[in-house]
Amino acid sequence: MAEKKEIKIGLLGCGQIGTGLIQLLQRQSKFIEKRTGLRLKICRVLVRDPVKSRQGGINRKLLTTNAENILRNQEIDIVVEVLGGVTAPRRLILDALKSGKHVVTANKAVLAEHGPEIMQMAYHCRKQVHYEASVCAGIPIIRSIREGLLANKIDLLMGILNGTTNYILTRMAEQGQSFAEALKEAQQKGFAEPDPALDISGMDTAHKLAILSTLTFGTRLRIKDIYVEGISQIDLEDIKNAEEFGLVVKLLAIGRLVDNKLDLRVHPTMIPKTHPLASVRQEFNAVYLHGDAVGPMMFTGKGAGPLPTASALLSDIIDLASSLSANRQDILTIENIYWGNKKIVPISRTKSEYYLRFPIIDKPGIIGKITTTLGRYGISLSGATARLAPERFGLGHVRVITRDALESDIRRAISEINRFHIMRGKAVAIRIED
Ligand code: NDP
Ligand code: HSE
Repeated sequence: MAEKKEIKIGLLGCGQIGTGLIQLLQRQSKFIEKRTGLRLKICRVLVRDPVKSRQGGINRKLLTTNAENILRNQEIDIVVEVLGGVTAPRRLILDALKSGKHVVTANKAVLAEHGPEIMQMAYHCRKQVHYEASVCAGIPIIRSIREGLLANKIDLLMGILNGTTNYILTRMAEQGQSFAEALKEAQQKGFAEPDPALDISGMDTAHKLAILSTLTFGTRLRIKDIYVEGISQIDLEDIKNAEEFGLVVKLLAIGRLVDNKLDLRVHPTMIPKTHPLASVRQEFNAVYLHGDAVGPMMFTGKGAGPLPTASALLSDIIDLASSLSANRQDILTIENIYWGNKKIVPISRTKSEYYLRFPIIDKPGIIGKITTTLGRYGISLSGATARLAPERFGLGHVRVITRDALESDIRRAISEINRFHIMRGKAVAIRIED
């Protein structure tokens, strides 16, 4: 049995996730002490509004609106940051490290935007930064890549990394729910970001892809290295069409080594119903990866919500507390983190199969006109069909599935077709992965 030790925690933020952490710690503290000998104690909690009503039996005496009460408190060993946003968390994390505290965070935005600066500061201050909760909430994916798969060169990483958008797409496909209704539910269940535009726009997924790709490919990334498209353009029409073609629409993050360069992107993607990621529903996330020794592998679990996130935060806290209790210094050098130096493939040079939908006014010869134009840009097809729109007489959609095509060719062809008089809206293009 390890020596008993009390580790004191300062919590920055007490919203969905901070409250979840307090509740989980209350529930498991005896169990954790029995298993590890560690007593974990939250000493102060930073909030904006100290009089707001809060769930979960929080001791109001712990609340403070002054971060200095945590950062300058000599007794606090670990600062847990669950504020949301970037500016204040960046400053507080850097200040916490400078004040001699170790840091645990669930904040992917701050890590994706300021990871190198934070890691440099942690190294300089000889402190640890843990961030398991920042990607896929309950799935221990960071630890798995960083420790369990160290013997592998990973060449592909493909995942559903956002619970909110996966929940919305599942509800639209299975219940025929509207986008707005499904988003509201995801917010009520505590899956969405404080600013849900981050979920919908694909940026939250991009932040997580940046974190996973840094670990997997060892490359220092800027968020603009990742091509990002969100799900706001996804229509029930496309979800139904996908179903007809034996496909499912998912918001995928893809990190892939192509000729020793990195292809990094986030976009709605159609995948076959038989693909392992197709059955990942609701707020569940999954990461599918391929290592040269281990082969293909998939991790899945709840990717959003207070308790799954608290599970990851608490395991980071226990890990960190154990190393402090054992007087272990698990300090990473910058070279340990950024060991690769890959160039990025621009999106225009990437290739993919595509589902294309052209909303049209029904006239004879339309399919021919569209497919001939695609052919002029070197785009081969594996199928093209037209369907009349049920809602209004004389309107329809031409639906096309392409073979592998260069992104720049697809864009040029679509831009030409969008100018045709028979078009009654913009073409929709969704990449297909198998
Ligand atoms: P909430 O908006 O619910 O909570 C934020 C908390 O931080 C609130 O308690 C708020 O105070 C406090 N706060 C925010 N800014 C300040 C500030 N400048 N000074 C003092 N207090 C501040 O956010 P969530 O709990 O949903 O998210 C927190 C973090 O966890 C985010 O980074 C998010 O990306 C991440 N995360 C979320 C997951 C999820 O499933 N929702 C999963 C994984 C990570 P007050 O209560 O007074 O308003
Ligand atoms: N808003 C995020 C999501 C929370 O829906 O996945 C988990 O990081």
